[in-house]
Amino acid sequence: MTEVAVVGAGLMGHGLALVFALGGHKVRLTDTNAETLARAPGLMATALATLAEAGEVDASWDRQRLSHAVRCIPSLEHAVQGAAVVIEAIVEQPDAKRAVYQLLETLMEPDAILASNTSNLDIFPLVPASLQKRAIIAHWYTPPYLCDLVDLCPGPQTDPAAIVTVRDMVRAMGKVPVVFKQMVQGYVANRLQAAMQLEVYRLLDEGLVTPKDIDESVIHGLALRVPILGIMAKADFTGLSLMQQGLKNRSYTPPGPRGHSEALDALIAQGRTGVMSGKGYFDWGDRSPEELFRERDRKLLALKQCLRKIGPMEGT
Ligand SMILES: NC(=O)c1ccc[n+]([C@@H]2O[C@H](COP(=O)([O-])OP(=O)(O)OC[C@H]3O[C@@H](n4cnc5c(N)ncnc54)[C@H](O)[C@@H]3O)[C@@H](O)[C@H]2O)c1
Repeated sequence: MTEVAVVGAGLMGHGLALVFALGGHKVRLTDTNAETLARAPGLMATALATLAEAGEVDASWDRQRLSHAVRCIPSLEHAVQGAAVVIEAIVEQPDAKRAVYQLLETLMEPDAILASNTSNLDIFPLVPASLQKRAIIAHWYTPPYLCDLVDLCPGPQTDPAAIVTVRDMVRAMGKVPVVFKQMVQGYVANRLQAAMQLEVYRLLDEGLVTPKDIDESVIHGLALRVPILGIMAKADFTGLSLMQQGLKNRSYTPPGPRGHSEALDALIAQGRTGVMSGKGYFDWGDRSPEELFRERDRKLLALKQCLRKIGPMEGT
């Protein structure tokens, strides 16, 4: 059992607090926004109920046990006191991250590890000198209680032992760590998602397809094979000479980053920001975000349990 502090109780933070609690650790969760911190126990309880319903956690896990395992603490100082691992899951803004690392430098225990959940930032230039040896990136996917991948990156001065500690910790919780030699912006999965998003926004901005066409192409075209074959094994099954020919034949230029998308900007300007606002690319009716997350989680869990039974095609 390790004492873990999670700083930031938003979409990722509450999920990470739940994952570490279920992994047998003692968690303290904090956020500068009192409302967000107050909302976290309800969101964790909903996720826990979904996991329990699917038989993914033992029956002793109820709301009461959860409230002992994850304590919500408004003060950053009290949240990180005594913690051996501090997970930073605050907003993805360099200035906010720099400011919180400066506070953590004085508040964290002298040998505690700082693990940032950043999606894209090279956080190491933002980390004060005295924390460099103990700072790593430990990047999770949403929802972290269902997605098992954890990207681990050391900074230029990180003590390798910090990576090993967190790698072993997440592996013991049934997660799948991928250890990078250095900071790789976007890791693997986020780079692939970013490349897909450039294609998606170009198709939408040029009016070539609808959001529904895109999801149908992904769900009925790409998705079935990916969980079993990944991308590289799928290439082996396609045949590598066809892959080579495909590279030669391609007659359009893949989109480069433009920094914005007209289709996306127009939706956001109308307040259509996604499930949290009830509308995004699609209209989610009058169902609450909690209801929608619950349905998503139930379906993902059912798929995950099937995939666990089937297993991947694994070459060596
Ligand atoms: N949303 C995702 O799918 C996802 C996936 C992987 C990684 N991440 C990364 O995780 C981090 C958090 O993302 P999120 O989606 O949970 O964001 P979010 O906006 O839902 O939550 C961030 C929280 O941080 C809080 N906060 C801001 N400054 C703080 C401070 N100084 N101390 C304590 N709390 C503070 C905010 O009040 C907010 O509740 C980001 O770095 C993001 O890139 C997000």
